[in-house]
Amino acid sequence: MCVTAYDAPSASMADEAGVDLILVGDSVGNVVLGYEDTLPVTMEQMLHHVAAARRGCKRALLVADMPFGSFQVGTDEAVANGIALVKAGADAVKLEGPWEDAIRRLVQAGVPVLGHVGMTPQSHHVFGGFKVQGRGEAGESVLDAAKRIERSGAFAVVLELVPAELAKKITAALTIPTIGIGAGPHCDGEVQVFHDLLGLLPGEPFRHTRRFLDGRTKMVEALKAYASAVRDGSFPTDENAF
Ligand code: KIV
Repeated sequence: MCVTAYDAPSASMADEAGVDLILVGDSVGNVVLGYEDTLPVTMEQMLHHVAAARRGCKRALLVADMPFGSFQVGTDEAVANGIALVKAGADAVKLEGPWEDAIRRLVQAGVPVLGHVGMTPQSHHVFGGFKVQGRGEAGESVLDAAKRIERSGAFAVVLELVPAELAKKITAALTIPTIGIGAGPHCDGEVQVFHDLLGLLPGEPFRHTRRFLDGRTKMVEALKAYASAVRDGSFPTDENAF
């Protein structure tokens, strides 16, 4: 099973929990950096977060997302950016969509690639929002994209926000593993966003996730307890002094 992480402490927690694959997702943009979506995320930001996650991840496979604009312009640029992410500490990269030449060239250069189809968030303007992809006949083009990614040499493929039946069909059709998110229970693996699982974000959780902890409430309570202890003089005490 897989989870995102964006820094050393979150990667080390995921590692200690026995997660197989840690993804330094470009979701760092909306989850950590406060952007509306992943589109503004740069290579420099990814390199910074990958290096930090690497320092916390000792065991799991560390995969770095290739941010928007880092692989679409040309395959030479895709290879250079993939290599830069590996030099920063990634074991592999993930890129959204069936960019066959880029995937082939990256693999040839020694950079393992995780594919990603369905609702690929970097294309949300094309989709007209963060909507389920591949309903009805449109499922064939998602299946075709997944097959092309497999043929290009990817070691696995993420299926995001697709109907469960389509995910089942794609999983049966491919020899490489599928990793679902909002794709139902029939994929080979599952990936979720760290902050969604631990309830670190305000608002209602997305339907495709589950809060295993109400982390934000607990953290705000702890910070309130700290603030009131300082204000009422009960912290720090002589025990905290040197
Ligand atoms: O960036 C990300 O977190 C992702 C996963 C949700 C698949 O791409």
